[in-house]
Amino acid sequence: MILVTGASGKTGRRVIDRLTAEGRDFRAVGRSSEPPFEWERPETWPAVLEGARVAYIVHPELAAPGAAEVIAEFAAVAGSAGVERLVLLSGRGESGAEVSERAVRESGLAWTVVRASWFAQNFTEGLLHPAPGGGVFALPAGEVREPVVDAEDIADVVTAALTDPRHEGRLYDVTGSRLLAFAEMADEISRAAGRPVHYAAISPDAFRELLTPHVGPAGAEMYVQLCAEVFDGRNEKAGEGVREALGREPRDFTAFCRDAAATGVWSW
Ligand SMILES: NC(=O)c1ccc[n+]([C@@H]2O[C@H](COP(=O)([O-])OP(=O)(O)OC[C@H]3O[C@@H](n4cnc5c(N)ncnc54)[C@H](OP(=O)(O)O)[C@@H]3O)[C@@H](O)[C@H]2O)c1
Repeated sequence: MILVTGASGKTGRRVIDRLTAEGRDFRAVGRSSEPPFEWERPETWPAVLEGARVAYIVHPELAAPGAAEVIAEFAAVAGSAGVERLVLLSGRGESGAEVSERAVRESGLAWTVVRASWFAQNFTEGLLHPAPGGGVFALPAGEVREPVVDAEDIADVVTAALTDPRHEGRLYDVTGSRLLAFAEMADEISRAAGRPVHYAAISPDAFRELLTPHVGPAGAEMYVQLCAEVFDGRNEKAGEGVREALGREPRDFTAFCRDAAATGVWSW
């Protein structure tokens, strides 16, 4: 049985679609599942782990203080409960995420790390939606170029890792194949949506001010630090994870934009 945490999220939902299509036995959990699962409440862990042999680990924010310790503790509890293999969703170029990766790799269980770049779905389901609806989205990312990845590709890699032991011991650098500046992503979204969308390259201070009402001062500071790290140029290189894990090319951002526009998500 496969345990899927973060089951309602951008990758978890897509992984569940695939496991369902393949007729796999899985348990999808989050804070409102039955039984519920909460990272902050270890007393919720044994019930969701019962009978699981493989687990997909999605922490809501690996950059958060204490995330790596929680993941190390979860891996230990999972091992005691009979889990044999862990698949961790990680973030590319994030020093905090690397500590969590280490916790999983040193857990004594079989592991796969899926280290992903910036998700295209941030524009449709995440951080920046419905911001493009206002015609502008803002990030402290300057002119940096990012190999934006489609969560459909992440879900394909994760599902392969959950269901096939050949992916054990692999760290997959999962990105799209093209480097795009955020202004170029805005152009692509504009073309697909048929309405102008602009990228505003704002300062870290302006970003902190923008986020604070939504996530509080500590959360805002965490995201400012995270952006300073991942948008400093270190990720300006496409990874080989999709090709290595699946033997095919990553999905392109243009196709993502076309499909997203067709769903009406940008029909503001
Ligand atoms: N977005 C990006 O560009 C990007 C890039 C690289 C890596 N990442 C990593 O991706 C991860 C997020 O994955 P995602 O985008 O698939 O998920 P997501 O869409 O952010 O959704 C978060 C999931 O976690 C669950 N959740 C939230 N708080 C929880 C808690 N306290 N206890 C238990 N479950 C909780 C939510 O379900 P409920 O609300 O139902 O509990 C939801 O299913 C993060 O670790 C992030 O660092 C993101």
